[in-house]
Amino acid sequence: MWDNTFSLLGQGYAWLPDLARRQGHGPVRTRLLGKPALALRGPAAVRFFYDEDHVRRHTALPEPVLSTLFGKGAVHTLDGPEHRARKALFVSLLRDADGVRDLTERVGTEWDRAVVDWRERPQVTLFDEVSLLLTRAVCGWAGIPPGRQNPSEMRELADDLVAMVDGFATAGPRHLRARRARRRQEERFAQVVEETRRTRVPAGGTGVVHAVAAHRDADGMPLDARTAAVELLNVLRPTVAITWFTVFGAHALHRNPHLRERLARERDALPRAFAHEVRRFYPFAPFTAGLASRPLEWQGATLPEGGLVLLDLYGQNHDPELWDSPYTFDPERFTGREPGRDELVPQGGGETSAGHRCPGEDITLAVLTCLLPRLARLDHRVPAQDLRIPLRRVPTRPRSGFVVSEVARRVPA
Ligand code: HEM
Repeated sequence: MWDNTFSLLGQGYAWLPDLARRQGHGPVRTRLLGKPALALRGPAAVRFFYDEDHVRRHTALPEPVLSTLFGKGAVHTLDGPEHRARKALFVSLLRDADGVRDLTERVGTEWDRAVVDWRERPQVTLFDEVSLLLTRAVCGWAGIPPGRQNPSEMRELADDLVAMVDGFATAGPRHLRARRARRRQEERFAQVVEETRRTRVPAGGTGVVHAVAAHRDADGMPLDARTAAVELLNVLRPTVAITWFTVFGAHALHRNPHLRERLARERDALPRAFAHEVRRFYPFAPFTAGLASRPLEWQGATLPEGGLVLLDLYGQNHDPELWDSPYTFDPERFTGREPGRDELVPQGGGETSAGHRCPGEDITLAVLTCLLPRLARLDHRVPAQDLRIPLRRVPTRPRSGFVVSEVARRVPA
């Protein structure tokens, strides 16, 4: 069987659905990165994939992904007791209801402040504006020392955090930009960690920086400063990545203007349902991957130990066996009901504390539920622009970044 790495790079989100169509029903057999690979989808496959007896993460992620998106030594690469001890740090920081509320309030305040500025400008690109306001909010919340939060550093940090996500799945200039961004910010945050450890009461408060600096791994040892910086960035970067979903939300509202009025009413059940549907409908993480811990068999397909197991997140979120009219944007599918644990998987599946499921889902939903109604209330125009979302590009976004113009001085009630 041919190695499909170049097809993946060339076809992006269309690669797995295309292979699945050609191979018919069941798991997709292929080769990737020189290894035999099996791509699975569906709630039962999610449970199979997140069983450590089947799939391990150590050495699963290729160097280009670690040097851009996640960082070397990140929680994503650990298994067993080492993973659980590191994951506990993220779960305690990111799933605490008061902490999530505090961050969300900061995001709302930063948005309201930004709107005042947008009213003075003929037009703004939502992608760039949202990435900046989320960077400001998360740095304040995380306790990044104020001295390291001046406006030009904030813009540079926002652009670097975006670049790390934007350049992980390509071989061109975007990838080099992502590597530079990671190097620069790891150095910078390693210094922040060292300063925090030197000062008994850390400047700028406690919060995430202090917790990461003080964290001890399963072996009882603190993280070296570089790994601590990697994990600090594993809070800052994905929070800023909510920019992608916010801009997709703007796209969805533009295409479905009949939802605007209801979405604007924050207390309605619609904002949360809308947030779920944005996460389901729009393409962001295509799949997640690990290595077979032992020879595996799934629905008649076999994979040797060390083979690649892919969980097809985008495919599962558009599987007609799970979703009626999967290519229709319809938030009503989530009004009055929360999706099943292993059904909606834009941020992985399974259990959060014990497995590799994203610990940032509460934050993602809370931030979207805060921003999407604000977007619906924003009195603005959407000038002619290229709003196509190319499926070949991973990660993708509306080509224009979603430009809004004539933001009104008076925000409608
Ligand atoms: C923008 C929205 C987000 C998306 C699409 C997303 C997606 C994902 C995915 C697909 C995984 C991997 C799951 C797996 O391998 O099984 C993951 C893991 C992770 N995410 Fe998120 N995420 C988002 C937001 C967040 C936020 C806001 C945070 C933190 C503030 C966060 C922190 C993490 C961490 C630390 C992991 C590693 C978990 C582990 O390996 O145990 N993510 N995320």
